[in-house]
Amino acid sequence: MSALTDLYKEIALCRKCEIARSRTKVVPGEGAENADIMFIGEAPGFHEDQQGRPFVGPAGQFLEELLASINLTRQKVYIANVIKCRPPNNRDPLPIEITNCQPWLERQIQLISPRIIVTLGRYSMAMYFPGKSISKIHGTSQTRDGITYFAMYHPAAALHQGNLRSDIIKDMQKLPGLLMQVKQTISKETVSQAEPQQLSMF
Ligand code: URA
Repeated sequence: MSALTDLYKEIALCRKCEIARSRTKVVPGEGAENADIMFIGEAPGFHEDQQGRPFVGPAGQFLEELLASINLTRQKVYIANVIKCRPPNNRDPLPIEITNCQPWLERQIQLISPRIIVTLGRYSMAMYFPGKSISKIHGTSQTRDGITYFAMYHPAAALHQGNLRSDIIKDMQKLPGLLMQVKQTISKETVSQAEPQQLSMF
């Protein structure tokens, strides 16, 4: 039993929002507990609500194809959503639902401690790139407090608007290079922190 599975149990008991009553299953998130890359989507849809797993419908199929294009599988990354319950008829999440669910997401991020958070779509982008427009910042990153945030279109948007498809495919191709860069920066920082101690031994 890990801290993350304990957290899932707490999330399953959450009844802060009205939509907790209409859900079939809560969808906390899933993937590697030590993932370098965490993807954050919007909210569970029909299939996710049925199965209790994120991104298992058509958008999830496309996300898996995108991951495969950079030699990743969903088991090697972590996938979550801004909110953990399905909004009725797939309506947009309400601000209060996002606020109520945010502590769960923050605790997931703390436990997984990813190097990169990929925001999928407008709702997760708004949490980490406030006031920005996705059409302007998709495919770009910002680093804050040891986490690099990378904005992408939502895979479902690319399914409905064919012109976004090539953008999302191209943006995904940037991830391996970005991860390498982030890891190099961290190892340089670790070396420069270690050096003064090593020198003081002589
Ligand atoms: N869309 C999302 O944002 N999340 C899911 O889990 C499925 C579809």
